Parts: sequence; structure tokens; C-alpha cells
Amino acid sequence: MTKHEEREYVLGTNDEELVRLGFQHRVWGEQAFALWERAGFAPGQTILDVGCGPGFATLDLARLVGPQGRIIAVDHSARFLDHLKVQLATQGVKNVETLLQDVKTLNLPSGSIDGAFARWVLCYLGDAQSVVSAVAKALRPGGIFAVQDYFNYRAATLAPKSAIFTKVIEAVDASWRARGGDSDFAGRLPGMMQQCGLEVREVRPILRVARPGSALWDWPTTFFRNYIPVLVEMGLLTPADQEEFNSDWSQHSADSATFFCTPPVFDVIGVKP
Ligand SMILES: C[S@@+](CC[C@H](N)C(=O)[O-])C[C@H]1O[C@@H](n2cnc3c(N)ncnc32)[C@H](O)[C@@H]1O
Repeated sequence: MTKHEEREYVLGTNDEELVRLGFQHRVWGEQAFALWERAGFAPGQTILDVGCGPGFATLDLARLVGPQGRIIAVDHSARFLDHLKVQLATQGVKNVETLLQDVKTLNLPSGSIDGAFARWVLCYLGDAQSVVSAVAKALRPGGIFAVQDYFNYRAATLAPKSAIFTKVIEAVDASWRARGGDSDFAGRLPGMMQQCGLEVREVRPILRVARPGSALWDWPTTFFRNYIPVLVEMGLLTPADQEEFNSDWSQHSADSATFFCTPPVFDVIGVKP
């Protein structure tokens, strides 16, 4: 994949982002497993992992469905899929099929899957409706589309409040919108699911609080470290903003009285009647 294609997806697909996604799955894995359980993902099923990235959730899904089940893992990043293929080979996992494809062009046979999972993917797409529609078509009757994505991203807050933190969150939001994404995507998803013939079974928020020194605190730390230079490159922040943020974040990181409220992530479950 060329540098240009990698940049089309706003967070990029470089090595630092790959490592960050692995860490992110460790701190958000419990929430993914809880969603899969409520979605009824089970041994023997065929599950589509939409925008699987380097496959950290894919590998857990592969273990969940077991040798009789199958995971179809789709992403447009060859680099991420190569990482997944190495993991599959070294761990001897044989029930995952990888597809190098833009998810907007998905066209799986009707009724061919039991479920689909999409975490932090649809919010980056200009045209998520085509993906929801393709998933709805591919699900068998009774099949489930389980999504984890953002709504009200700007609610991410540092306490006590910090003006530079708020400025950075607004710049992140603006950068996604500049590339056609929608940081409030989960708010539109129930309507999209209904338009595609899915019944919305559940809409549930996940709001988490991280305190300095915890693993969850390092989640925004790694994100800001990788992404603020991109925001400066895009002209959404100045180098002076970057310096001010770094110093502010370091001070908060050393203050046990501070806390960080994660941007609200929503679980949305759609069922094919
Ligand atoms: C934030 S990552 C999330 C990865 C994975 N779902 C997870 O939760 O770990 C977003 C992923 O979406 C992929 N992506 C973004 N736009 C895409 C598109 N149009 N087609 C296929 N994959 C896409 C990126 O390559 C990246 O792997």
C-alpha cells in the first residue's frame, strides 16, 4: 500500500498505529467480549470482522467460534493484514480468512454469515450506509450485527477541565470530519440499520474513567503521542499547541487527583428478522 493510500484512513497504518491498536484491544477487550456474548456469537458460527485492522479482535473471535466456526477478516490495509497472517501462521489458527478489500465494496453472498462485528471503523467512512447494507444482506435470518463506535466524541474530558485538552479533542474531531468521517457516527447507526432492514435490539453506552497510572490512562497517552503530530501536519494545531498539550498532559499524568472520561463508545446490536 502506498503512503497516500495509508493516509486515506485518517489514523494511518504505520507500525506505531499497529502497536497502539494492540494495546487498545488489551484495554477494551473486556467490552468487546461482553458485546459478543450479548450478541450470541458462539462456537461453529461464521462471523465477519469489518475493518479488522491487525486482527487483535479477530484472533479472539477465531478462538470463540472454534475450529468448526470461521472468521472473515476484512481490511484495506495490506500491512495490517500481513501482521494478522503472521499471527495466524505462528499461532496455528486455521479458521480465519483474510480479505484485502475496501469495506465499502463488500459483497458477500446473501445469508452466508451468522454475525458481524465492527469496532471503530464505520466512524471513519464517508459512506457507512453501503457497509451496513452489505452486512444486512450477508446475514442469515436471526443473524446479528454488533457494533462499537463513537457518539458525542467531544464529550471526552479531562478533569479538572483543561482548555488545551478541549482544543486537541476538537482538532481530532475536525480531522476525522475533514476526511469524511463522523465522530458522532453511532447516533446515526440505529436509523441506518433500520433502513437496511435490521431490527435494533440494543443501544448501550460505555463511559469509562481512567486515572493516572492505570492501563486505561495510557490509552489516550499513546493515541495523542501518535496523532498530535498528524494534527499539526494537517494545520489543525500549531507546534505551540503541541508543546502546551504535552506539558499539560504530563502534569495531569503526575496528579493522582485527576481523571479522564473516555469518549462515549456505544454498543449497537442489529438483528436480521
Ligand atoms: C481504529 S482501526 C480499528 C481496527 C479493529 N476494528 C479494532 O478494533 O482493533 C480502523 C481500521 O479500519 C480500517 N479501515 C478504515 N477504512 C477502511 C475501508 N474503507 N475499508 C477497509 N478497512 C478500512 C483501517 O485500515 C483500520 O484497520
